[in-house]
Order: sequence, then C-alpha cells, then structure tokens
Amino acid sequence: MSLRRAVILGTGHALPERVLTNADLEKIVDTSDEWITTRTGIRERRIAAEGEYLSQFATRAARSALELAGVEPQDVDLIICATVTPDMPIPATACVIQQDLGAAKGAAFDLQAGCSGFLYGLAVAQQFIATGQSRHAIVIGAELLSKYLDWKDRTTCVIFADGAGAAVLGPGNPPHGILASALHTDGSMADFICMPGGGTRYPTTETTVRDRLHFIKMRGNETFKIAVRSLEDVCREVTNQAGVPLPQIDLFVPHQANQRIIDAVSDRLRIEPAKVYANIDRIGNTSAASIPIALDECVRSGRVRSGDYILFAAFGAGLTWAATVVRWA
Ligand code: ACO
Repeated sequence: MSLRRAVILGTGHALPERVLTNADLEKIVDTSDEWITTRTGIRERRIAAEGEYLSQFATRAARSALELAGVEPQDVDLIICATVTPDMPIPATACVIQQDLGAAKGAAFDLQAGCSGFLYGLAVAQQFIATGQSRHAIVIGAELLSKYLDWKDRTTCVIFADGAGAAVLGPGNPPHGILASALHTDGSMADFICMPGGGTRYPTTETTVRDRLHFIKMRGNETFKIAVRSLEDVCREVTNQAGVPLPQIDLFVPHQANQRIIDAVSDRLRIEPAKVYANIDRIGNTSAASIPIALDECVRSGRVRSGDYILFAAFGAGLTWAATVVRWA
C-alpha cells in the first residue's frame, strides 16, 4: 500500500473573553505578580465564564480552521479532540463537536495525553490520512482547566488557563506535510500531574469532594526537570527521523508550560530566540490547546511561510512527551 502525505490545510483558535491578570490572582491566593512573572513568564490568561463549557470553544476553533482551509464540515470524516477537561465524562466531547459543526458521520473521539494531546492527535490523524482511511481530519486541542483548578492552591492556579486550537488535515504532496512524529510515555510518573477524583478509582462522593480530589494536583518542580530533559531528547529524535538538522528549523513552537522551560530547551538545542514562538505571557498554560493556539497565531500573523520547517514539542500529564516536524505547505 502506498502511503499518502498528510498536510495541515488550516488552523484556528478560540479564547474566553475574560482576562485574569496576576494582579487579580494576588487577591485570590498568597502570590505576587513578581513571583508568577519571573517563575513562569505568565502575565495574564483567559478564563471561561460560569456556564461556558469546552465544546463551545473547541467548535469555534474548528470552524475557524475549516474556513481557513476552505474545507466544508461535511467533508470532515475524522474529529479528534485532545483534552483533559471534556464537557462531561460520557460521551466524548468530539461527538458534540461533530454535531455542532455539521460534519460527516465518520469517526469522532477524544484523546487524553495531557499537554502532549494535540501532538498525539496529529500523529493519529496523520496515519488515518496516510492510509486513506480519512480524507479530512480535524485535530483539536482544547482545555478549560480553570474548571478543574483548586483556587486555593497557588502552585497550580497561577499557571493553568483556558482556550482551544484546531488544525484541519488533508492529503497533500511531498515535500510538504507532516514529516515525522515521536511519542513517548512513562507511566511510572503518573501521579506527578493528576486529578484523583471522579473516575472509577475514587468515584465522586461527599468525601472525595471534601478531600479536594476533584482538582488538579501537580509536583511542579520534579516535573520541570524531567520536562526540560525529555523535550530536548525528543526534539533531537524527531528532527533526526525527519532528516532535518536542528539549524534548518525555521520555527520552534513548544508547548507553553513555563517560559523557563521554553528558554532552557531552546538553549540546549541552540535554536536562536528569533525562531522560538512564545505567547505564554498572554495565554498561560492551556495544556493540549497551547500548541494549536500558538500555531494559529503564527499562521495568521504571517510568521509561517510555505516551505518552512516547523518543530513542535510538548510535555505533560502521563507523563507524556512528543515532538513533530512539519514542512509547511
Ligand atoms: N506564588 C508564590 N510562591 C509560590 C507559588 C506562587 N504561586 N507557588 C509556589 N510558590 C513557592 C513554593 O511554596 C516554594 O516556596 P519555599 O521555597 O518556601 O518552599 C517556592 O515558591 C518554590 O517552589 P517550586 O515549586 O520549587 O517553584 P518552581 O520554580 O519549580 O516553579 C512551577 C513552580 C511554575 C510549577 C514550575 O515547577 C513548573 O512550571 N513546572 C512544570 C509544569 C509543567 O510543565 N507541567 C506539565 C504540563 S501540565 C499538564 O500536563 C496538564
């Protein structure tokens, strides 16, 4: 069987209207603008309003990506929504998005790989397109992490934020398209970033609510060190696999976890600052949504040109990490 090349045809993103600044957070928890800015690079983030839910933002991002791609919803036969914050546990949010978009009745499912979810989703969709199983796919990274945050826990509530991004994929021709993906998981660190309550292990009871098990917990400092090392390794692995030496990368779009992680990884890879995209100061850490939001900002501001080599890299709950090399069509 001859495999087809998957290319990104369009991107989109959607953000809540409400801006939450570091000064606002100073009124909620014992923190300071100075601590948050120097330790994370975040100045403000978007937070969904009460009553807003994930599929609203995911659908908006997907619709905007379809418009840019010039693809009709009924021509989309695969929808992957990468998220850790779905509308509800059952059904998958991707099903709601399919209905809201008016997409073809192909496959739609959610994918959970923490902050690496969008890159995992790209790799899955790529295979569907390469084999001809799908004609057009939408990969969405969307999170409303504010709904899972403990607003009394200053180690998490200052970092995480809300938003959605999407990419439409279709068949294309070399030399453009997704050139290589590398995906990794180490489940021995599953408890580093987790939300213990609400699943089958700790089904929701009055006790789990009282014990605050329905909030995200993170061992931030230990995660930080592993993130830097793993991101460096996976970027070297994927660029090798793609046959694109690191100096040839035109644009590096890393997961926006922490500005210090972005700087450390870029530095180790010797990617010059002008080639590194960061929006964490305005957007915060939106987990699976961070790369597609950043990519769409690059696309719409003319930062990406045809023929450019783009490197994506992400790291998150699982622990999972992943990287992708794309040659822009
Ligand atoms: N304001 C003020 N002080 C704080 C805050 C805060 N918001 N949070 C922690 N501190 C204090 C701590 O209590 C500690 O004080 P102590 O020295 O008196 O004990 C001190 O600051 C240092 O704490 P650390 O945890 O060592 O701070 P660090 O520099 O590691 O920064 C952070 C914390 C921002 C969480 C960082 O570790 C990080 O970004 N980690 C990686 C996160 C990540 O990449 N996650 C994966 C993606 S997320 C996903 O998959 C859903």
